[in-house]
Amino acid sequence: MINDRFLRACRREPVDCTPVWFMRQAGRYMAEYRSLRAKHSMLELCKTPELAAQVTLQPIDRFPLDAAIIFADILLPLEPMGLSLEFAEGEGPVIHNPVRNQADVDRLKIIDGGELEYVAEAIRQARLALNGRVPLIGFAGAPFTLASYAIEGGSSRNYLLTKQMMYGEPKTWHQLMDKFARVITGYLRRQIKAGAQAIQLFDSWVGCLSIGDYIEYVMPHVQLIFEGLKREGVPMIHFGTGTSAMLRQMREAGGDVIGIDWRIHLDEAWSTVGHDVAVQGNLDPLALYAPLHEIERRVADILRRAGGRPGHIFNLGHGILPTTPIDHVAATIEMVHTLSQRSGT
Ligand code: CP3
Repeated sequence: MINDRFLRACRREPVDCTPVWFMRQAGRYMAEYRSLRAKHSMLELCKTPELAAQVTLQPIDRFPLDAAIIFADILLPLEPMGLSLEFAEGEGPVIHNPVRNQADVDRLKIIDGGELEYVAEAIRQARLALNGRVPLIGFAGAPFTLASYAIEGGSSRNYLLTKQMMYGEPKTWHQLMDKFARVITGYLRRQIKAGAQAIQLFDSWVGCLSIGDYIEYVMPHVQLIFEGLKREGVPMIHFGTGTSAMLRQMREAGGDVIGIDWRIHLDEAWSTVGHDVAVQGNLDPLALYAPLHEIERRVADILRRAGGRPGHIFNLGHGILPTTPIDHVAATIEMVHTLSQRSGT
């Protein structure tokens, strides 16, 4: 039996029960992942298609999830563009030569995605290994989130240097965003051609912007990506966090499915983006640490707010954390399926 309820929900078609997957579902909370990681660096896992495909399937083999997401990272395109990327142990990502001025932006190469052929190959191998069990999602970082890493040189609290460039050197900023938008469009197109059945654009940190800044400095570049990929015909998910105040504009920027974090009620968010798009979310990742009866209360509340309307994909509002209890992950997936069971379809 082919499980297509995730793709059906993306298209707002009726489903037998609500599909569920978790951002970062392949990762450190799983012993299988940790034991592979003990032998290989993060970048080695990403750049070896056999290993990336294997990690992609780890959560699928263990849980009845309704979608797989290719194992990679949003920062991979920075390397062939000319930035030196390292996943430093215990520190997160580091870019050793960050982008700080016009000359740095000029130096960034516009790659056509061929440099990331290892991701395409991982997608082909993961599709083969999945053998139709569940659909495979491809992904990329959105221009703002990528720019924040490229400029800050790593993770950031206040996005000071990012906003300094945005406000002080708007021409440089827009050139940087345009380069990312073009690279990401080509990269995602290659992922789709390799077999990705849906794609997700991660604008994880865009919620740090005012609505006015989003419209002026970000939205046109995101629009370019979604417009450029429309004709590929696969569902596109537009994800961000801290975005309760800009959901309408994110929807306007594009996407068939809009990501909703946990800071807003799902029903309110869905009315805001409009019922003519699908929504994905919106459990707090920290809720997975709660006792099972409390998780169940929260899952039931989200499902009640989705109201049985076609077009809800259950997910966390952000990535699953490395110390998440694995039995709670299994129980949550089971709750989503059981509590959302529809009769007669
Ligand atoms: O969802 C999946 O299972 C697919 C794999 C995936 C990874 N990163 C693997 C990863 C995906 C979809 C991402 C996206 C990503 N990467 C985002 C957007 C999603 C989000 O959480 O906001 C961001 C901002 C990044 C950048 C990044 N990569 C950071 C900040 C870190 C370090 C923080 C951390 O969690 O360790 C990474 C490293 C990373 N990417 C790991 C994994 C499994 C941990 C690496 C390890 O094993 O040590």
